Amino acid sequence: MRVAMVGSGYVGLVSGACFADFGHEVVCIDRDAGKVAALKAGRIPIFEPGLDDLVATNVRAGRLSFTTELAAAVHDAQAVFIAVGTPSRRGDGFADLSFVYAAAREIAAAIDGFTVVVTKSTVPVGTGDEVERIIRELRPDAEFSVVSNPEFLREGAAIQDFKRPDRIVIGANDEHGARVVSDLYRPLYLNQAPIMVTGRRTAELTKYAANAFLATKITFINEIADLCEQVGANVQEVARGIGLDNRIGTKFLHAGPGYGGSCFPKDTLALMKTAQDHGAPVRLVETVVSVNDQRKRAMARKVIAACDGSVRGKLIAVLGLTFKPNTDDMRDAPSCAIISALQDAGARIRAYDPEGMEQARAVLTDVEYATDAYSCAEGADALVLVTEWDAFRALDPARLRKALAAPVLVDLRNVYVPEEMRRHGFHYTSVGRPQ
Ligand code: UGA
Repeated sequence: MRVAMVGSGYVGLVSGACFADFGHEVVCIDRDAGKVAALKAGRIPIFEPGLDDLVATNVRAGRLSFTTELAAAVHDAQAVFIAVGTPSRRGDGFADLSFVYAAAREIAAAIDGFTVVVTKSTVPVGTGDEVERIIRELRPDAEFSVVSNPEFLREGAAIQDFKRPDRIVIGANDEHGARVVSDLYRPLYLNQAPIMVTGRRTAELTKYAANAFLATKITFINEIADLCEQVGANVQEVARGIGLDNRIGTKFLHAGPGYGGSCFPKDTLALMKTAQDHGAPVRLVETVVSVNDQRKRAMARKVIAACDGSVRGKLIAVLGLTFKPNTDDMRDAPSCAIISALQDAGARIRAYDPEGMEQARAVLTDVEYATDAYSCAEGADALVLVTEWDAFRALDPARLRKALAAPVLVDLRNVYVPEEMRRHGFHYTSVGRPQ
């Protein structure tokens, strides 16, 4: 099938490359000529394991190409995906749909023959209706259907998530649209991935409900972790103890500094606003949003407490800046709020991240950057692990201990074994585990 992917950002690029790998003919479109030129030259603008190889293979095979020319690509396509950004609107937290609607207008002008327009971007309920209205208004003659096909990709594991999904959700109000999108995923039938065909609005809401539920799970275990600290219990064991109940499940029960990233913070906020607008507020999600917001600065207070109540004039070494490992993404990373709060309390910050330092420079101020974990720790008054990159799991505790000026280790991801760290002479603090 011929596919046009409007928007070659994270979602568009991963989905486009994976569809091409299934054997479809995919053109990824972006209005950013610099990005398209880089992609044509084989440079991938984001860090995602395996994506560079996947893109290279499919470009070589002639199934994947890049262009700034939307009209030509859409004209030839049977399915056109909208995979542009939907950032939080400044001021009110609603999803900003201007890029989606602008794409819809451009697509409308270019479609030819029966075309299925698929929203892949995370969009509030009813956006598909509006996309359909825009296209119909501009092109009363056009034959098309608008389908919602939300993505459930995790950064860092996106290719695997695309190719081995837990489920595929297709929201279509007509049979033809549902069939075309199901056919695109046909190679996955072999993996027996369940394909759910629902109404369009149901699919749109399913995406938000999934992210809000996962954010709730994380926030729940984070609050239980705080309680564990007060009563001398171990949150990892509590999480396992409840997670082994199939109805609960063990995943997304890792206590930490609060969720971040480009999806959960934005999507929980957007769901909250949509629900309020429809007179059906999701109060649980409202609480999750506020608890998670407060948690990040609370983590800074944890560091301050570990430093005997003050970080004024002290050098704090931070390991890991990105919102999670295996990405260079700094969007809504807990490290930002934690670092600002420590700076507000008078600390100097030195940081190291395996992939995120370039992005970090754009959002953090007054931070000194180290070239590896040990030099980051050199002469510091405390070491704080914020993001659990694998490379940090195998660090040599004796060497770290020697590098630090004071043996204070705050592990916000529960990566290390408390007894072992204590044996190495650290004053070790983690999240929700007996101190
Ligand atoms: C998330 C969802 O997991 C994807 O299914 C979804 O498609 C995506 O959002 C999206 O809407 O585009 P992602 O933001 O890449 O994916 O990252 P996650 O792995 O879900 O992690 C999100 C945040 O939660 C991170 O800050 C992570 O550290 C935190 N987290 C996750 C925890 O603190 N504890 C956990 O147990 C799990």
